[in-house]
Amino acid sequence: PAGDYEKGKKVYKQRCLQCHVVDSTATKTGPTLYGVIGRTSGTVPGFDYSAANKSKGVVWTRETLFEYLLNPKKYIPGTKMVFAGLKKADERADLIKYIEVECSK
Ligand code: HEM
Repeated sequence: PAGDYEKGKKVYKQRCLQCHVVDSTATKTGPTLYGVIGRTSGTVPGFDYSAANKSKGVVWTRETLFEYLLNPKKYIPGTKMVFAGLKKADERADLIKYIEVECSK
């Protein structure tokens, strides 16, 4: 599914914003998601990743984020991201659309 930006923005605010900014390089509990599309996992300079996230060696794309966000602990066993996942495929697609657009600004 293509994803709906406005719906994705709501999901982001409710589920991600407390730990991740997407509009600057600021660090919160989690690393910035600005520029995450096309970035190799575990490579935001200065962020103190878990060994698991650091060594995953995946490039974050629509497809890999779609799978990761379904169940982060399954995709990266040992991640320190405390997040249960988004079970609904349309929510993930909307969210990724939002992140993509924000990353392209
Ligand atoms: C890591 C996305 C929710 C805390 C990550 C990474 C992504 C991501 C893509 C990997 C970053 C990288 O490899 O550079 C998201 C999205 C969320 C979300 C889209 C909402 C759906 C949260 C929440 C928290 C959180 C709610 C805090 C309670 C973290 C932390 C890491 C991380 C601490 C680093 C994990 C590690 O080093 O093991 N997140 N996240 N995230 N996230 Fe999230």
